[in-house]
Order: sequence, then C-alpha cells, then structure tokens
Amino acid sequence: MTLSPILQHLKRTTEAQRSRRVFGWWSLRGLEVARPQPKSLSPCRPCLRGAPLPLLLLLSLGVAACGDTTLFDPMERQPKYKAYSANPFFADGRAMRQPPAGTVPRERQTLRPEITAGRGRDGVVVTSIPIPVTRELMDQGRAKFEIHCALCHGLVGDGVSLVATQMSLRPPPSLHQIRDAGPGHIYQVLTDGYGLMASYAAELTPQERWAVVAYVEALRRSQAATVGEAPPEIQRKLREEPAR
Ligand code: HEC
Repeated sequence: MTLSPILQHLKRTTEAQRSRRVFGWWSLRGLEVARPQPKSLSPCRPCLRGAPLPLLLLLSLGVAACGDTTLFDPMERQPKYKAYSANPFFADGRAMRQPPAGTVPRERQTLRPEITAGRGRDGVVVTSIPIPVTRELMDQGRAKFEIHCALCHGLVGDGVSLVATQMSLRPPPSLHQIRDAGPGHIYQVLTDGYGLMASYAAELTPQERWAVVAYVEALRRSQAATVGEAPPEIQRKLREEPAR
C-alpha cells in the first residue's frame, strides 16, 4: 500500500474538522446547535449549548436593545461617581466639585481685557472691534446670529420675529434703532445680558461674540444702505429687479 491514500484520508479528515470548527456552531441538527464547544473557551458557552438558534438570536437582540455595555466591557464596571450624583464625603453632598478659585481653562484668553471683557484696562468700553474683521469672522457671525439671535431679533435684526409677537412685556427691539449701537455696547449686552435678555457668555466664546457684533454692524449698514454703496454687480441686479 502506498502512502498517498493515507495522506489523502488524513487531509480529508483535517479539512472536515476545520470546516466543522468554523461552521459547527451554526450547523443545525433539527433546531439544535450540533457541536458542543470546548469548555475552556468561555464560561457562558456550556449554558448556551443545545439552545435553539431562534432563542440565541432573541437573546442577542435583547442584549443589544437593553444597551448594557458593561456586559461586553467589564472595565466599565467599577466604583465611580457619575455627574450630578450625591457624595456624602463632601460637605455640600455633591460628587461634582468646583475648580479651585481662580482656575481658568488653558484656551481662555486672559491678558487682553479689551477682547475678553470688551473694556480696556482703564475699564472704558471699547469703541471698535478689537480683533481682525475677516470674511471668516463675518461668516461665523452670521451663523451664530441666525442660531442664537434671529429667533427674537429677526433674521435681519429688525425685531420682526414670531417670538417678538408673543413677548408682551418687552419685545426684542430692532437692533438698528437702539440708542447705543457701538460694538462695545453690543459686546457688553452679549457678555453680561441686558434687562430681560440673558447673557450669551456661556453659548458664545469671546471670538464668537465679536463675530456676532461684526455681523450685527453689517446688518445695520445693510438696512440703511443706498444702492450706490453696493458692489457693481449687485447694483446691476438691484436695478433690474422690478420695484416693489
Ligand atoms: C429670547 C429672545 C432674545 C434672544 C434670543 C436675543 N435677544 Fe437680544 N434682546 C431681547 C430683549 C427682550 C431685549 C430687551 C431687553 C430689555 O430692554 O429689558 C434685548 C436686547 C438686546 C440688545 C440691547 C438693545 C439696547 O437697547 O441697547 C442687544 C444689542 C441685543 N439684544 C442683541 C442680541 C443678540 C446679538 C442676540 C444673539 C446672541 C440676542 N440679542 C438674542 C431678546 C432676545
């Protein structure tokens, strides 16, 4: 007898074993998982052995639906305090702590009060925008204005908005008719709030506040501009428009 039939047989056997190893878990006999898994693989396998496939699918759906990620990531299971939870260790009973007094975020600008507070070192409100006014700044200002301000002051800042019609006590004014429309004043309003209007210091960084100030200025100019002030191609377009 030559060696080749034996080799052939061996090859066939190992191939069959390999495919069973790969597909064994899924191959069904009736509705049962056919191949028992080695015990050492996972502590959960023996209990699933012999479970019908639909049950396994249902189980995995259930696990996915309940969203308990600690099931897959044991490192999430650890003693810890979550935001807003209580902690009797501290006198105020809260787990969240205040940063030590005087702490500032690394990215916060602190040495240019005219930029951060809109006032010079002498405490006087600035009369011009203290950062370079670029096209990007204007675009940012427009985006932020339309998100945070337009709902009350109107898309062009003229005070015409749905919210304004519902505010009887003090409707948001037209930003083109306020007494002091200087950039410094508008920056103060955004930083500290103004009468009924809340501060936007938490929503907008100093740079974003200046961007809004610049855009409000552009809106104000646009509302009082003559056709002659527009760029030539806009002038042409405006003159071609039928008078309303
Ligand atoms: C919820 C509505 C509301 C939103 C949103 C809002 N405002 Fe106001 N704003 C008001 C009201 C109301 C007043 C008048 C407050 C008063 O006189 O008590 C006011 C006042 C102002 C003033 C001062 C006007 C003056 O008389 O000097 C400025 C400037 C201003 N808003 C700009 C803005 C800008 C810029 C934004 C966007 C970041 C904004 N507001 C967002 C309601 C709003």
